[in-house]
Amino acid sequence: MNKGNNIGIFDSGVGGLSIWKEIHQLMPYENTIYLADSLNAPYGNKSIDEIISLSIKNTETLLKMGSKLIVVACNTATTNAISTLREKFNIPIIGIEPAIKPAALNTQSKSIGVLATKGTLSSQLFSSTSKEFTEGIQLIEVIGEGLVRLIEEGKLNSPEMNTLLKKYVDILLNENIDYLVLGCTHYPFLIPQLKKIIPPYIKIIDSGVAIAKQTYALIEKNKQLNTSNKNPSFQFYNNKNTETMAMLLEASKEKIEINYLSF
Ligand code: DGL
Repeated sequence: MNKGNNIGIFDSGVGGLSIWKEIHQLMPYENTIYLADSLNAPYGNKSIDEIISLSIKNTETLLKMGSKLIVVACNTATTNAISTLREKFNIPIIGIEPAIKPAALNTQSKSIGVLATKGTLSSQLFSSTSKEFTEGIQLIEVIGEGLVRLIEEGKLNSPEMNTLLKKYVDILLNENIDYLVLGCTHYPFLIPQLKKIIPPYIKIIDSGVAIAKQTYALIEKNKQLNTSNKNPSFQFYNNKNTETMAMLLEASKEKIEINYLSF
């Protein structure tokens, strides 16, 4: 059993902070280390080989920092690299995939939308999981081209963002969807903007809470759960700049450390 003392989380950038928030809420006593590979974001348009080698680099960095479990807080990295990571590293690794199953089980209109990166939507893992759950259901796939870049730049409320969102939402509305699956961990930060342009009967779902619960279950099963750590540490590292990260973590009440790190 790995003797590390923190949960290591990585993403191509700041998106996985949406996952960190859920993990921290469920497991407040766990030490966490978050790596944002913003220098290499977005991953969504990269080749499978590039995504795999970046994911290996991030995992190795977290292991050196003493992680007991790795959360791949990136749909693109999970759907393209998780099997390689699990073969290569002898440590529990949790990944995130678009929440197609709950949307497919609950849709009334029999039409659901998924907004994700090109890398996720074109992956074999996404294709096989989505086929498994969408028999008799129309699945509208939209690539959120440009969204990750704008979020990384902190332009969540910009005219460029609104134009892009409107374009993608229009495609989905034309198809009578009643569920919108956010298949990229950056996108939950856009929920307030999305709610302004989609009708309220469309439910927006993402995988954050499910991943946090899965992480909890695995740590508990491995008897590694911290239940009384009086002084947990929350470290955040970015290899490009720390501004957007600081902005997205602003509301956090915890004593967090945000630093630049080359990795
Ligand atoms: N947060 C990543 C995901 O969930 C964004 C991918 C990217 O960098 O394009 O897919």
